[in-house]
Amino acid sequence: MKALTRTVRHGTSDCVVHVGIGVLNRLGDLTEGYPSRFVVVAKKVMDLFGDAVSKALPGIDPIVIADDEREKGLAAIDMIVSALLERGARRDATVIVIGGGVTGDTAGFAAAIYLRGVRLVHVPTTLLAQCDSSIGGKVAVNHRLGKNLIGAFHPPAQVISDVAMLQTLPRREVLSGMYEALKSGVIGDARLFELTESEVGAVLERDPETLLELVTRSVEVKARVVEADEREVDVRRLLNYGHTLGHGIEAALDYAGMSHGEAVCWGMIGADAVAVRRGLLDSSVSERIERALLSYRPEAIPASVDRAAIIGAAMRDKKFTSSAMVMALPREIGRCDVVEVTASDLEHGAEAMLEASAVYAA
Ligand SMILES: NC(=O)c1ccc[n+]([C@@H]2O[C@H](COP(=O)([O-])OP(=O)(O)OC[C@H]3O[C@@H](n4cnc5c(N)ncnc54)[C@H](O)[C@@H]3O)[C@@H](O)[C@H]2O)c1
Repeated sequence: MKALTRTVRHGTSDCVVHVGIGVLNRLGDLTEGYPSRFVVVAKKVMDLFGDAVSKALPGIDPIVIADDEREKGLAAIDMIVSALLERGARRDATVIVIGGGVTGDTAGFAAAIYLRGVRLVHVPTTLLAQCDSSIGGKVAVNHRLGKNLIGAFHPPAQVISDVAMLQTLPRREVLSGMYEALKSGVIGDARLFELTESEVGAVLERDPETLLELVTRSVEVKARVVEADEREVDVRRLLNYGHTLGHGIEAALDYAGMSHGEAVCWGMIGADAVAVRRGLLDSSVSERIERALLSYRPEAIPASVDRAAIIGAAMRDKKFTSSAMVMALPREIGRCDVVEVTASDLEHGAEAMLEASAVYAA
């Protein structure tokens, strides 16, 4: 087994991230120092890995939850909290969450508020969750008026990422994670970006060594951003590259019909158009990023989604989540900045993104 360990410093607490091939087998050992362990696992992941989980954590009766994005809400929190209460979880409990980003966000938020917060361990099982959502301590559920509006900052004590678990991941979910890895490359690691450019075949075949390097490098970029944000407020907004317009697409589609990663993919194309318009990014670099993104063959933005719907949703999102209209915009591959933008910039980005999607679909 090959594994790498990285400690992410979160101000008052540290999080140890283990990334490896076959590291799930060490789940029991890595958490055995915690007195009272509870497992929350996504139904589909339970069907696939239930035996391995029981072997690693014998005698623990897992709390099995649905992991549909549309069920990532307060009803799921109530269900998890009730199950923890029924099982007698106390303040010293550790909640081990096994699943993709939806499960991690939902059960992570339940751990953040259960008895004012209990220890959390993430075992992310999708490429997106391993590269991105399990790192950084943000946990949240959706409200009918917007995504991730009810949440907390609750860093995990450990993240245990086994890339061998990605073998069963549907192709679409592999792609969804690739867009986030590509995002991390543009934000902070040119080598990671090159890897996403050159290793399309290996990624689609789920080559474990390639996935290991992708996850490790993505974790490093996110860890650096999260740690810098402790000193310099708002650095974290860099991680929103592609998300302003991406969230606009997701909300316009009512979170159905397009994966989060695909929406972010188009959102990055829109953000690049804004960066070029503002003179921050060379158009040849923007074209290179677009080529890399489209080589993963995302679904085109459905024709039913128009510019007004995207802008309306993106503005609503901004209104709830920030005081100024800012976007993370790339300057070159490996370097991004947070820049204040105008409504006209946003409209330009949405227009460019829809046009790119229409040309791609034709
Ligand atoms: N907290 C953060 O910082 C952060 C960052 C980025 C995204 N997110 C959130 O992450 C969520 C998206 O996460 P996701 O893309 O992992 O989606 P997901 O959790 O819905 O998982 C996608 C699908 O893959 C299945 N699955 C999971 N592991 C599998 C495996 N090993 N083999 C086969 N199938 C498997 C799931 O059952 C699900 O059907 C969104 O809700 C987004 O808001 C959070």
